Amino acid sequence: MKIIKTPTAMSDLASSWRRRGLTIGFVPTMGALHQGHASLIRRARAENDRVTASVFVNPAQFGPKEDFLRYPRPFAADCALAAQEGADAVFHPEPADVYPRGSSTFVEVAGLSGLLCGAFRPGHFRGVATVVLKLLNIVQPDRAYFGEKDYQQLVVIKSMARDLALPVRVVGCPTVRESDGLAMSSRNAYLSPAQRLWAPRLHEALAWGARSSRVSLVAAVRKRILGIPGASIDYVSLVDPDTLAPAPAPKAQAVRRGLRLLAAVRIGRARLIDNVIVS
Ligand code: PAJ
Repeated sequence: MKIIKTPTAMSDLASSWRRRGLTIGFVPTMGALHQGHASLIRRARAENDRVTASVFVNPAQFGPKEDFLRYPRPFAADCALAAQEGADAVFHPEPADVYPRGSSTFVEVAGLSGLLCGAFRPGHFRGVATVVLKLLNIVQPDRAYFGEKDYQQLVVIKSMARDLALPVRVVGCPTVRESDGLAMSSRNAYLSPAQRLWAPRLHEALAWGARSSRVSLVAAVRKRILGIPGASIDYVSLVDPDTLAPAPAPKAQAVRRGLRLLAAVRIGRARLIDNVIVS
């Protein structure tokens, strides 16, 4: 597996693949890879001739008080996992190469970016959309893989690809969970041992909500989440899966089918997000 440091070297390698008629699958990440990331690389491996992942902790998507500096960066272990899952290359650029001096162009997916997590993390999705478009321009893959774990991010990227006619297929992949239900995340490392024991109750509450026939489903799920010691809620929301618009209040279970139930919850230093489909 090749480790590629500069955008030019990455785009040269990808063009050499394309010239040979090989298809390219791309998995953008911020590193600290776990089995969730591994599942995306495996899927890309199964569907493309060549696979590249990127490992780049993107400063533009972190707020001033967020965890950019302490975000985990175990690069050697990341390369080992990517290689084990069959990646042909890992693209690991420096911030100065991704954001050359004087960079002043940004991508804003208006509307979607201000909802849910966007309301609590101003500028976050602008940073995500901008870096993802740059990475896609460098690699020019046939397919790019994103996890449903970050459901709003997936919807933002799909919208950007549609609105800007990007020549890439955006593929959404299911959330990979620990055996107790907690969605795998690089940020789970911020949980203390006690908090880690309580954290699966977030998914439990959402899964319960998805099965519940109550009219006041969101209120009932909020109540369950607030039962987790030390938990505070950013949001719990039942939304249309494509527009992320809040579903109109009381709806019969049958009418709710296919909606997404999403939550963001703080437990200690960790901000956990998770979502489930209402089926
Ligand atoms: P990161 O959090 O490293 O996630 C990289 C990709 O892995 C995203 O598509 C994310 O949804 C997916 N992923 C994370 N945990 C997962 C899980 N438990 N199951 C399935 N997929 C999972 O998301 C980002 O990085 C960044 O915002 C990025 C898109 C790379 C732009 O900087």
